Amino acid sequence: MREKLIIIGGGEHARVVAEAAHSRPDLWDLQGFVERKPCPRMEQESGLACLGTDEDASFLACAATSTWFVLGVGGIGPSTIRRDLIRRYAAAGNKWASIIHSTAHVSPSATVGKGVVILSGVVVNCGAALGDHCVINSGAVIEHDVLVGSFVQVSTGSVIGGGAVLEEDCYVGLGARVRDHVTVGSGAMVGMGAAVVATVPMGLTVVGVPAKVRKQ
Ligand SMILES: CC(C)(COP(=O)(O)OP(=O)(O)OC[C@H]1O[C@@H](n2cnc3c(N)ncnc32)[C@H](O)[C@@H]1OP(=O)(O)O)[C@@H](O)C(=O)NCCC(=O)NCCS
Repeated sequence: MREKLIIIGGGEHARVVAEAAHSRPDLWDLQGFVERKPCPRMEQESGLACLGTDEDASFLACAATSTWFVLGVGGIGPSTIRRDLIRRYAAAGNKWASIIHSTAHVSPSATVGKGVVILSGVVVNCGAALGDHCVINSGAVIEHDVLVGSFVQVSTGSVIGGGAVLEEDCYVGLGARVRDHVTVGSGAMVGMGAAVVATVPMGLTVVGVPAKVRKQ
């Protein structure tokens, strides 16, 4: 059955999320997006209307229990903005949709939390578990049994080896590799192109091959 969907945000990431939702017209009936500032590209390219600000949408969420929401706000690096937005909406008691692009492969034995976004060409292999509101960007590979915490963002083309753990709020940059069974701590940042071969302590940034903690 098709469900009504509203995207929170109207920027770059929101446009990509809209395309992913559009790829599953059998599942999602896009109603529009909410954003504080004008978003002409979102309106033109996704064909969606701005429904108002996110404060308006909180009221909408209370009223329209049949409407689902997804976070279309991205950003580079660990940040509390996405978590704060979800908290605001949670008070309104709305529903969080997980959007999976039609070209992604998600193993039947993988589990996907609520509000998750999985973009084009992603592979999520058997036994992997994705926490709430995480984003797996285009072409990334989440190998078997990987645990991805809430609000984690995995950038385009990254590969996470089997059994690795990405703790909540961490960020994996473009094309990075994380060795199998290694942990990236909560709120840590893996720079683009890095090869993570050992545990990354929480909150730190690592870069390079092999990845080393970046001096502040
Ligand atoms: C690691 C990162 C966070 C550092 O960003 P920053 O603080 O703005 O760093 P700067 O660009 O000012 O670079 C500072 C130094 O680190 C080096 N550096 C930056 N990123 C690096 C990386 N990924 N690997 C190795 N070295 C890196 C720069 O060459 C520079 O070196 P120098 O001081 O010898 O000249 C950033 O480069 C990164 O990897 N961001 C992820 C981008 C991404 O994945 N975007 C996804 C879009 S979908």
